[in-house]
Amino acid sequence: MTDNWKDIRINPDRFWANFEAQAEIGATGDGGVNRPALSEAHLAVRDWFRQQVDSAGLAFRLDGAGNHSAVLACGPAGGQTLLLGSHLDSVPYGGRFDGPLGVLAALEVLQVVQEAGLKLPVNLEAIDFTDEEGTLVGVLGSSALVGSLRLDDLQTPRGGREALLAGLARAGLDESCLLAAGRPASSLAGYLELHIEQGPRLIEASLGIGIVTDIVGIGSYRLTFSGSANHAGTTPMDARKDAGLGAAAFILAVRRLVLEEFPGCVANVGAVRFEPGAFNIVPGLAELILEFRSPRKESFALLEEALLALAFDLAEQYDLGLQYEFLGRHQPTPMSPAVSQAVAAAAEALSLRSILLASGAGHDAQLLAEACPSGMVFIPSVGGISHSPDEFSRRKDCLNGANVLLQTCLRMVYL
Ligand code: GLV
Ligand code: MN
Ligand code: MN
Repeated sequence: MTDNWKDIRINPDRFWANFEAQAEIGATGDGGVNRPALSEAHLAVRDWFRQQVDSAGLAFRLDGAGNHSAVLACGPAGGQTLLLGSHLDSVPYGGRFDGPLGVLAALEVLQVVQEAGLKLPVNLEAIDFTDEEGTLVGVLGSSALVGSLRLDDLQTPRGGREALLAGLARAGLDESCLLAAGRPASSLAGYLELHIEQGPRLIEASLGIGIVTDIVGIGSYRLTFSGSANHAGTTPMDARKDAGLGAAAFILAVRRLVLEEFPGCVANVGAVRFEPGAFNIVPGLAELILEFRSPRKESFALLEEALLALAFDLAEQYDLGLQYEFLGRHQPTPMSPAVSQAVAAAAEALSLRSILLASGAGHDAQLLAEACPSGMVFIPSVGGISHSPDEFSRRKDCLNGANVLLQTCLRMVYL
């Protein structure tokens, strides 16, 4: 084998045309997309992806969890698969880069390898994972693929059970088929994902490539403070059991707790709902959704404990009841050092300056790392903004990232 593969590059116009085409589907008119998992807009972009796979002359694969992929049989029949991918779903009213960049770069890599007629020791697959963002469950497709999804996870999903069942039905999927998406770890040679950084470090340091060392641990709960609904005009201020007060106090106390006792960690109350919810009724019930993250296992467990203890303390202080529902937890996960070295070498060969960094966002790579050597390539996010229509990455950075993905993939199999 000569080293000609080192000169292979993605086709920038095709890749960018594909990227821009996907951004039209579910577009919100302000630069973003609204494609929550298995919504009509998400199903539309999934159909579009399938058409791209067909017109590229690649094989199409769909599994029981709705993960779908382009497959290039460039390796031995029955040989291992090197997976490349990300997700086409978005958070509600999110940006157009988070996820699609990695899926379309993966598709482009397969097309380029196909056109170059390369024979590899592995087969390649460009995969779009179902429900990465957690509108329904979170990293649903990748959990199913590595066999770590449990039916219990589907009873109390983050987005609620009804939304999950409705989404599966819309997509023609069935709960009973989800587990069938599991693949033996021995079938996977590795996993690579290109993604926007979603934070400010690369852009501030004027660096083109981030090499992910670790992915943050993420946990979530639904907390419900319960008091007594009562007349808001006649009930004295000191005689109320105001569930809203518990929620408000909790939100403020969470910020203080994390800032003072958990450096490097974060927590977020992303939504609050009061019942009955009227101008003139003291809230009898306040439900909030809580998510917390830590890069280290030890502080992740301690933070979870401290957040729950805080909620109970405040419930007692305001004479309220408290119920909590556990909605999922993914441990902090290191990426494969060998894959990271391949990313670093690919970036260097392309004359791109890179740094090692940890990811504060969750990714499908977190799940794939359970099964095979996995790694991620980050490119700069302008302003460090993400999960927003203002999310933006420059075309040249996206193209560089796609070339690093391609060259990393080839280094992993040839060197
Ligand atoms: C996924 O983008 C997450 O980190 O929430
Ligand atoms: Mn993402
Ligand atoms: Mn995201």
